[in-house]
Amino acid sequence: MKVSLSSRIQSIPPYLFAEIDRAIEVKRKSGVDVISLGIGDPDLPTPPHIVEALRVAAGDKRNHQYPSYQGLREFREAVAGWYKKRFNVALDSGSEVVSLIGSKEGIGHLPLALVDPGDVVLYTDPGYPVYKIGTILAGGKPVPISISRENNFLPDLSAVPKDSLKKAKLLFVCYPNNPTGATAEKEFYKEVVDFAVDNNIVVAHDAAYSEVAFGGYKPMSFLEVAGAKDVGIEFHSLSKTYNMTGWRIGMVVGNPDVVRALGKVKENVDSGVFQAVQIAGVAALNGSQKCVSDNMKILEKRRDNIVKTLSGLGWDVRPPKASYYIWFPVPTKGISSVDFAKTVLDKAGVVVTPGVGFGQYGEGYIRISITQSDERINEALERLKKLKV
Ligand code: MLT
Repeated sequence: MKVSLSSRIQSIPPYLFAEIDRAIEVKRKSGVDVISLGIGDPDLPTPPHIVEALRVAAGDKRNHQYPSYQGLREFREAVAGWYKKRFNVALDSGSEVVSLIGSKEGIGHLPLALVDPGDVVLYTDPGYPVYKIGTILAGGKPVPISISRENNFLPDLSAVPKDSLKKAKLLFVCYPNNPTGATAEKEFYKEVVDFAVDNNIVVAHDAAYSEVAFGGYKPMSFLEVAGAKDVGIEFHSLSKTYNMTGWRIGMVVGNPDVVRALGKVKENVDSGVFQAVQIAGVAALNGSQKCVSDNMKILEKRRDNIVKTLSGLGWDVRPPKASYYIWFPVPTKGISSVDFAKTVLDKAGVVVTPGVGFGQYGEGYIRISITQSDERINEALERLKKLKV
């Protein structure tokens, strides 16, 4: 039988990081010792007290049944407590918090809750690919708003075309930003709230990297701004903060109508997060946060090492204040980001991510993730030094 695929699935490209995984697999099979600076997947382990909480909870048979759809009460309360402590944002754990199978899952499902066929979803480009893909899967029309170095990778909301604005239902923003490492401050978020109110658009702020910041810098939550909860939600994840990418746990918080609508989609398509993982999440959020600051010291040294070495090669590399990502122009004139990344993989066995994988406005840039050990990073840098592109 020839399987006939939906036009929806045919219209989406293969997932960027799955493609990269496939390319790595091919190289490894041919005997190359590949070093991946591609995906933002921490090499550092989940802190032991969190692993121990999972071990104990996994042995308790009460956790072997279906979890709550909305999320374990203790988990939602821990999320609300953490938001209060970290951002001084008050959340009602009963109506303003829902657990997610990682923030990617919630981001991918959100358009199903808000968007009808033909509605526009705005998102910053370059950006996390799931904003666009989730929109397409819901039958919406993704409209990118370019961000560039000249504007500190903040969107010019006044430049969104009027016809898109009229049909727009949702705006995705993400700071600290993936892939550019850019950060945003209060003035920007105020502008976003005004834009949302003026145009009746829901805002979804992806804050997955709020705890990955250097030199004492503390990124803020979108919800700290007056009026934000009236117009939007924030996605968060334990993945990056506590080195828990494999555990699949995150949360959506904020506007209760939007949170409830996303919860309704989820009730119908998934059955929540393994309760033992949520209990480990409680240990993470309620426990000492020293593990987070210790991590940041390690990451900051890596960032500095990479920036110094690549700048020494004459590459235009600047240190990000936050996130795992170093985002810089393709060092060789006249070649595309994909060709540069391919050459680096072929000649040096090092994976870097082509900027165009994050959208059309990412062309001309390369992203490097600092989530490898010092030893592997040093080896990758040695190989890049010898590279003639
Ligand atoms: C990335 O490398 O952009 C992220 O790790 C992907 C993700 O968070 O799903």
